[in-house]
Amino acid sequence: MNYYFITGTSKGIGKALVENLLIQEENYIIGASRTCSIHHPRYQHIHLDLANPKQVINHLPKLFRIPENARFACLINNAGTLGEIGPMGSLEPNRLQKAYQLNTITPALLANSFIQTFSAWQIKKKIVNISSGAGRTPYDGWSTYCSSKAALDMMSQVIACEKQNASSQLHIQSIAPGIVDTLMQKEIRDTSNDRFSNRKLFLELSENNRLISPEKAASRILNAMNESEEVLLDLYEED
Ligand SMILES: NC(=O)c1ccc[n+]([C@@H]2O[C@H](COP(=O)([O-])OP(=O)(O)OC[C@H]3O[C@@H](n4cnc5c(N)ncnc54)[C@H](OP(=O)(O)O)[C@@H]3O)[C@@H](O)[C@H]2O)c1
Repeated sequence: MNYYFITGTSKGIGKALVENLLIQEENYIIGASRTCSIHHPRYQHIHLDLANPKQVINHLPKLFRIPENARFACLINNAGTLGEIGPMGSLEPNRLQKAYQLNTITPALLANSFIQTFSAWQIKKKIVNISSGAGRTPYDGWSTYCSSKAALDMMSQVIACEKQNASSQLHIQSIAPGIVDTLMQKEIRDTSNDRFSNRKLFLELSENNRLISPEKAASRILNAMNESEEVLLDLYEED
């Protein structure tokens, strides 16, 4: 069997990834988020607040337990948040800290534990970080989001050039999925103009039907995982 560990599976892109993967009978998925909306014999849910470092660290030793005859193991760090939108200097400290925890620190903790657990396993392994174009272009009001995704991109590039990973059949990618019609986009459109000057651009993208569905985004991500060797990918350009 192929084993996928995916964060943020209750809705949006994460849920669509699980539904797509479940079509193939050789795939088994372990998902984590605060709520669960998928019920399937080949899906196991872990209720976890991934912005809570204690909860995450307590779960690490039991998270990546799979049968020894597994053919493939894959971690998809998908759960993410925009954090509080607004200029630096106006942000609430607790929200700021939790957003970095969810977007950057938890993916790093999971990647570290995943690599440690499977380093001696002679099977193909993959880590995919769901990044964003915002990690590669600055937007005012998005300091937390942009910088936390930029950190994911750099972490991915460093892991890719660590020699022991190449010799242990580990492949890593950081994939920006494009602009996807999820609650995250609604949150952007619902922000006031004074906290996010690019709001109009995102309103126009929605009005002009330029957002892709989570299902299409999931299918593109899975194709890119199968077909590309690139570490940093931006699927926005496929539109
Ligand atoms: N939508 C876009 O246009 C877009 C563009 C570029 C990149 N992305 C990236 O794509 C990824 C998925 O985004 P999305 O648009 O699908 O977002 P979404 O619809 O808001 O879904 C976010 C998922 O993350 C989970 N999550 C949020 N906070 C969590 C927490 N504290 N603990 C555990 N799980 C948590 C949510 O589950 P619970 O609420 O049940 O916990 C949900 O399953 C994110 O990393 C995002 O940055 C999205």
